[in-house]
Amino acid sequence: MISLNINGKLATVDVDPGTPLLWVIRDHLQLTGTKYGCGIAQCGACTVHLDGRAIRSCVTPVSSAIGKQITTIEGLAETTLGKTVQTAWQDVDVPQCGYCQSGQIMSATALLKENPHPNEAQITAAMDGNLCRCGTYNRIRSAIEKASAQLGGAK
Ligand code: FES
Ligand code: FES
Repeated sequence: MISLNINGKLATVDVDPGTPLLWVIRDHLQLTGTKYGCGIAQCGACTVHLDGRAIRSCVTPVSSAIGKQITTIEGLAETTLGKTVQTAWQDVDVPQCGYCQSGQIMSATALLKENPHPNEAQITAAMDGNLCRCGTYNRIRSAIEKASAQLGGAK
């Protein structure tokens, strides 16, 4: 049995320690907002936070998450920052098909946590690993800038 702290709650799962965190989140904990895209850390669809940092859950063994705080898109609105980013996403109407968007939001939130007022180059660098087949990149950038403007000193 493996105990995890996910979205502020404790969860216990009976899985092999090498199981990718993504499958534990989706299949064992039924938190299906986190998506599977490539399975090889190339698309960002599976992005979640471990202790506030964006990681690719498709290539992260569940054992790496033991003792850490896991946050998925379902738990993001618990913080002022997460709520601000999600509201900006809605205001800008970012998604098209939506498949990549939880990963995009998780990466954007991790960026703004580290750096509440990133410049264009910093946004580009931070979001580089999150692909969007629908090409919503301009709206993603606008939403990040909007969230940044609304943040002030909040984290
Ligand atoms: S599914 Fe994890 S990076 Fe693509
Ligand atoms: S909104 Fe469709 S893949 Fe990004």
